[in-house]
Amino acid sequence: MPVVVADRDELKQQIQQILSDDLFSVHLLLERQFRNPNMFVQDVAQHVSRFQGKRIRPVLTLLSARLFNDSPAALDKAQRLAAAVELIHTATLVHDDVIDDADLRRHVSTVHRRWNTETSVLFGDYLFSKAFHLAATTGDAEACRLIGRATDRTCEGELNQIAARLEQSTSERDYFRVIGGKTGQLFAVSCRLGARASGASEGQQAQLKQFGTRLGLAFQIADDVLDLTESSESTGKDAANDLSNHRLTLPLMRALRLASVSDRQRLRELLFSPDIAEQQRLRIDPLIRQGVESAGATAEHFVGRAIRCLRTLPASKARTALESIAKFAIHRST
Ligand code: IPE
Ligand code: IPE
Ligand code: MG
Ligand code: MG
Repeated sequence: MPVVVADRDELKQQIQQILSDDLFSVHLLLERQFRNPNMFVQDVAQHVSRFQGKRIRPVLTLLSARLFNDSPAALDKAQRLAAAVELIHTATLVHDDVIDDADLRRHVSTVHRRWNTETSVLFGDYLFSKAFHLAATTGDAEACRLIGRATDRTCEGELNQIAARLEQSTSERDYFRVIGGKTGQLFAVSCRLGARASGASEGQQAQLKQFGTRLGLAFQIADDVLDLTESSESTGKDAANDLSNHRLTLPLMRALRLASVSDRQRLRELLFSPDIAEQQRLRIDPLIRQGVESAGATAEHFVGRAIRCLRTLPASKARTALESIAKFAIHRST
């Protein structure tokens, strides 16, 4: 029986063993999308694709497909949808970096720092459009509709995040609504599309969608923790970007909840202080550390619930790899 692993290198190996051909095809599909005779477009595309991300969403699509079927027709469809999902993800990142006024993405300058905001807005739009164009080549209108709906909800999540910040909301209900939209939706559809491509039943697709939603929540909580605990060298993104944007994420909400009345007042003042140096000191505050621990426990809880969604599926290497990814989602430094 294959073993669930949580170590990054072992996980990479486990995934390569199952998906090396699929990932290579996805790589070629993406490379083709990024090729352009226009020099400026080519420059931006090259910059964005110079450093790959983790490609977790396409991996989820491909593993979800291989759970049910490994016929060439099913895999071809899953590969196109996997590449489409990665394009949508990359588009959201290019736009998200403008929203968050970020300097660094995947260890290189963000598009708006390297060029300007106009370029980011248009290049992000261009990637969204490429994604739908590519998804349409599968001839599966329902798959395109599902991607469209997930993308709508991703944007709604980002919009709700702005509303929550304007209200300085400390409500966990608001937080989960935001992250369920901005991250959960794309994780969910990534899994569901893979299952759909390989002819899984509606019930099985729903199971995979549920797995993706829960995993997405855990993944975003872990990302919010990394914002407070990791350096930009390890994440390849600005450290403490959420803090600089006065964004109340789960670890910060938990710290506020655990604090005494006077500490809560002090933390709030620091969180909303325009003084960056003061804000940065929060990263080593013992109360924030407690908030990080508490949020980590919640992420762990969602991973457990995600893995439970896979329980009734037949045991296979693909299922074990999905479990390993779920564990990795919260034990990572990037
Ligand atoms: C970053 O996603 C955005 C979040 C939802 C936290 P990833 O951490 O998957 O980014 P890359 O693709 O690996 O760079
Ligand atoms: C995820 O939120 C953004 C999207 C889903 C587009 P973050 O703002 O936390 O993502 P990073 O940290 O910039 O990657
Ligand atoms: Mg961001
Ligand atoms: Mg983040």
